[in-house]
Amino acid sequence: MVAQQWNSLAKTADQAVGVIKAVTNKVPDAAVVLGSGAAALHDLINPIVLPFEEIFGIAPTVAGHAGSVTVGQLPEKPSVTVAVIRGRYHVYEGHDFDTLTLATRTIVAWGVPRLFLTNAAGGVNSQFDVGDLMVITGFRDFLNPKYREIGLLEAAMAPPVSSENALTASIIKAGKHLAEKDKDFRPLRSGTYCGFSGPSYETLAEIEMARRLKVDAVGMSTVPELQAAAGTGTVAAALSVITNVWSDDKPMGGHEEVLEASKHASRRLDQLFRYLLQN
Ligand code: HPA
Repeated sequence: MVAQQWNSLAKTADQAVGVIKAVTNKVPDAAVVLGSGAAALHDLINPIVLPFEEIFGIAPTVAGHAGSVTVGQLPEKPSVTVAVIRGRYHVYEGHDFDTLTLATRTIVAWGVPRLFLTNAAGGVNSQFDVGDLMVITGFRDFLNPKYREIGLLEAAMAPPVSSENALTASIIKAGKHLAEKDKDFRPLRSGTYCGFSGPSYETLAEIEMARRLKVDAVGMSTVPELQAAAGTGTVAAALSVITNVWSDDKPMGGHEEVLEASKHASRRLDQLFRYLLQN
């Protein structure tokens, strides 16, 4: 389906909040978006699970992206309510900027103060290892939305993530704490994420370009979501799960490889989120 047809199905952010409020009157303390294959926060108390189709009007189409929103309480600290969003809409599914950012705009309209975004990404920085978690402290946008048309030009020009962003800083701090306390917790990386439109993985020539642009990781999402949250009452920060590391002579494996690597990093991702949400 092309963007125009998706548009006719999509709800507005306010309608989406209406669907959620019909089943829960809680406003979460934080929302977490889990990207391809990432698993975390699977044991929330009193969970309410809503499929994307019901909330947003559109079902996701990619394997490994469940497409659901779970609202529940953190078992370690039940006073904390969390919304866990499994899956997202992608440019390569034919969605326009409105749909790409619908979940984020819903989180904003719902009044959730903190939004943690995650994604699966390919490591361009040769120091990275498969399974690393990288805090996004800057990004490059090759997803190319039409900012002026959608009235987001200012947001696109403002730097929405940096290590000075308080939420980003809190992830870096939590990562340091966990790595000191637990020798199995691999220290977090940080770096620049570049969003490509996909759906095919990058060519080696594109990776070479990204490397020259000082990009540390490449993926196909998250940039529009960070832009949509910028300047709103919701502070957003983002993390990449490095599911593969590019080398000069080895092309990318494929989506299966990404899902497998993501599963292995999920234990640390889960540990990190539990810590962040309790503190
Ligand atoms: N490129 C783009 N998207 C990705 C990659 C990659 O190498 N790995 C996981 N998602």
